[in-house]
Amino acid sequence: MVILDTETKLMTEQNMQLLQGKRGIVFGALDENSIAWKVAEKCVAHGSTITLTNAPVALRMGKIQELGEKLDAEVIPADATNLEDLENLFTRSMEVLGGKIDFVLHAVGMSVNVRKKKAYTDLNYDWMLKSMDISAISFHKVMQTAVKTEALSDWGSILALTYIAAQRVFPDYSEMAEAKALLESFARSFGYHLGEQKKVRVNTISQSPTRTTAGSGIKGFDDFFGYAEKMSPLGNADADSCADFCVVLFSDLSRMVTMQNIYHDGGFSSMGINPRALTQS
Ligand SMILES: NC(=O)c1ccc[n+]([C@@H]2O[C@H](COP(=O)([O-])OP(=O)(O)OC[C@H]3O[C@@H](n4cnc5c(N)ncnc54)[C@H](O)[C@@H]3O)[C@@H](O)[C@H]2O)c1
Repeated sequence: MVILDTETKLMTEQNMQLLQGKRGIVFGALDENSIAWKVAEKCVAHGSTITLTNAPVALRMGKIQELGEKLDAEVIPADATNLEDLENLFTRSMEVLGGKIDFVLHAVGMSVNVRKKKAYTDLNYDWMLKSMDISAISFHKVMQTAVKTEALSDWGSILALTYIAAQRVFPDYSEMAEAKALLESFARSFGYHLGEQKKVRVNTISQSPTRTTAGSGIKGFDDFFGYAEKMSPLGNADADSCADFCVVLFSDLSRMVTMQNIYHDGGFSSMGINPRALTQS
């Protein structure tokens, strides 16, 4: 492998422009640690124009305006569970960007029971419904609103971020495991309809544990971050590499990949045991 120095790497990235002329909407950039923050930066570096969106409360607390100014991207408030907000988001994005939308990143997640430290065997079901709405059903709402507003370009690409707790048990991930299973199922089912209607593809990326506000909110995060790091032959995938992968999946280079849950985890999901994980240091 040729190792490029930083300057050459930047120049190469600038010349690549995998998303030249494309228009996108990026959900979920809260602060510079957010995966969506890095995705937004890379999408613009690759030649696309985007709008940014987050829940109104996150707009007040987070730093998304700062990112908007840096990327020359309009920030449009939208609670991802609110259909009126979503309709406004798609309509306004088409106005601002001057045409239909080529790609969407759903990087939205929140569990009320996790936040309130409820044990998995003692969950509050009203909170569970809220968690499912924010973390999974919102993905269906986003896609359904995109269809209703006729916002999607043919051969567009839609992505959501997920975690392997949808397939395997990670006790501290609690009800988010079920939320992610539902999210991944929506990607498959809606992927069928959007593929048939518009040749639009829908995929989920199953990402390594990543140090972000949402990630660090999970009990014992540092322990399973360290465990995954040792189990994965390549180590944990960070937010920056996740953003690179999102760019590829938004680009025409991945145009025939749809209805997939794709692991971006340094190999973690294929491991049984890694002797490295058995040693103390
Ligand atoms: N961090 C990890 O370890 C990890 C691993 C795998 C998958 N993911 C997923 O990646 C995605 C992004 O999370 P992150 O780790 O970058 O953390 P983050 O906290 O930076 O992002 C989560 C975002 O969801 C937004 N959000 C919450 N409720 C919302 C609502 N009602 N409407 C609109 N937006 C809302 C938050 O404001 C925030 O911007 C999430 O789906 C998360 O589950 C994270």
